[in-house]
Amino acid sequence: MQAAVTAPDLPATRATDTESWPFTVRRSTPTIGAEIGGIDLRQPLDDATYLALRRALVKFKVLFFRDQEISPAQHVAVARRFGELEIHPMIGHHPDHPELVVFGRNGGQRGRENLYHSDVSWREVPSMGSMLRCVETPEVGGDTIWVNMAAAYANLPEDVKARIARLNGVHDAMPTFGQALADDKYEAMRQKYPPAVHPVVRTHPESGEKILYVNEGFTTHFANYAREQPYRIGSDFRPAEMDLMQYLFRQAAAPEYQVRLKWQRNTIAFWDNRSTQHYAVQDYFPAVRHMMRATVIGDRPV
Ligand code: SIN
Repeated sequence: MQAAVTAPDLPATRATDTESWPFTVRRSTPTIGAEIGGIDLRQPLDDATYLALRRALVKFKVLFFRDQEISPAQHVAVARRFGELEIHPMIGHHPDHPELVVFGRNGGQRGRENLYHSDVSWREVPSMGSMLRCVETPEVGGDTIWVNMAAAYANLPEDVKARIARLNGVHDAMPTFGQALADDKYEAMRQKYPPAVHPVVRTHPESGEKILYVNEGFTTHFANYAREQPYRIGSDFRPAEMDLMQYLFRQAAAPEYQVRLKWQRNTIAFWDNRSTQHYAVQDYFPAVRHMMRATVIGDRPV
């Protein structure tokens, strides 16, 4: 059975908020998330606001902005302030803005983002953050959950931390995105986007926090388990290896590390993909839900 989670050990609750921000901040939970007010994302961000938002993002890990009636071009512009944007090779995008992936659920297809993941962790250089705008949402349902993976790491038992300290995870896009592809397309994508190997515990480049960086969406196995914890013969430790990965995946499901957002039209969520995972709740089919996401490129996890 998993050890109980205790809130006082969570890193985010230890942070004392003595900073003054050029916008209002209302924390969503003690662990993760803040609602930001008094800011108009249609306007170019001045340096002070940009830097404060960046600090707020690192600290709260996901920021929520309500009633931001921005155009796709303004969405791209505000996201680009935080870094270069990526073009997702496997999800459909806005016709005029390839930097915006479109999740357009119109009753014909169920959403498939209902698994805990960090965006494009299968890339050698994954994402720093994502900015998602709600264009249309069902009356009820279609919430999104984010998880503080620094808190998930901090609360791991010490023996598990020791076991995973030098392990690497293999992250692969194909189990998720390859399902619907014909064989030739699958092979072309396979060649173009080989799996990436990242440390199971990464260090956040801005906060220095240690983060549990495996996710059920894209991490398929450990790259070096057998070298760190040698098998005696054949496959005798394989079940332990797979159990360990499943155990690590399960950490994301602890409500103590989570925040859950009820969307409204023109709500924007901006999250740190280095320190969080997210899960789009698929409880609204066949209602319409329409979202657009800009994804900021980050750095190679270490
Ligand atoms: C995503 O996985 O980035 C989409 C999240 C959502 O649609 O809520």
